[in-house]
Order: sequence, then C-alpha cells, then structure tokens
Amino acid sequence: LAEELNILKNISKEQKYQELLPQIEALISDEPDLIANMANVAAVIKTATNYLWAGFYLVKGEELVLGPFQGSIACARIKKGNGVCGVAWLSQETQIVPDVDAFPGHIACSGDSKSEIVVPGIKNGKVQFILDVDSSTINELDATDARFFEQIVELL
Ligand code: SME
Repeated sequence: LAEELNILKNISKEQKYQELLPQIEALISDEPDLIANMANVAAVIKTATNYLWAGFYLVKGEELVLGPFQGSIACARIKKGNGVCGVAWLSQETQIVPDVDAFPGHIACSGDSKSEIVVPGIKNGKVQFILDVDSSTINELDATDARFFEQIVELL
C-alpha cells in the first residue's frame, strides 16, 4: 500500500508541476533581472509545496553566497565542494539526496531538513548559481522534483 500511495503522490506531484511550469514562465519571462526572478521562483516553490526551504545560492569567486530564498535563515556562504550545494557546483550535476544524514558532508542549516535537491544553473559551461530545496520528510524529494526544478533553472 505504501508503494501505491507513493505512486499516487508522484502522479499528483507531476500534475501540479506540469500546471505550475507555464505559470512560472509567465511570471518571469518579462523580467530580465535574475535576482527578482529568483525571489519570485522561491516564493512559488514554497507556496505550491509543503517543503521546508527553497532558494538560491550565487557563485561569487570561490564561494556560494546566499541569494533569494523562502524558509528559515540559512548559512550565508558555502565553499566549493562543501555540502550538497558545493558538490552540485563542483560536479555541475543535480544532486538528489533522499536522506541528508547519509550524505557525507551535508551542511545542516536546519535540523528539520531530511531530504534535499540541489540543481546547478549553468551558463557557458560555468555554474552561475544553484537552486536548493529542502524537505522535512525523508525520501520526499525525488526525480520528479528534480525534473521540475531543472526546468525552472533552465527558464532562469
Ligand atoms: N544543506 C545544504 C546547505 C544549504 S541549506 O540546506 C539551505 C548543503 O548541504 O549544501
């Protein structure tokens, strides 16, 4: 039953994301300012889901610096390669972490965070920013979320 419920949950998640994507596109397409668009995107993700934290870090020199987000206060700076965010930056690949306690070097900004996804925003072969989303439920963030967040990053 648990598995069937999970399949249902993912179908509805997929549907919700399908509906949200054009709305996000409409919201940001007329605005050229990246920070303004990040702020609105963080607000959409946070209001449309029950996730704990949604936001951005911007690449500045050798560090990631906290950008627009929704949720509780977070670490302002993350070094290259550190935490899930730093690994996504270094590897230039989406990191899906079903259980943050099982991820070596995970940075716990909030003790309530149990699963996490980080998507890198890449331009001209370089990571410009990362999108980070945290859930308070273990195994909640998965490939369905990753696809949606990757599409959002693409739009930005
Ligand atoms: N958990 C992240 C740090 C950022 S906070 O979750 C907002 C990491 O390990 O990189």
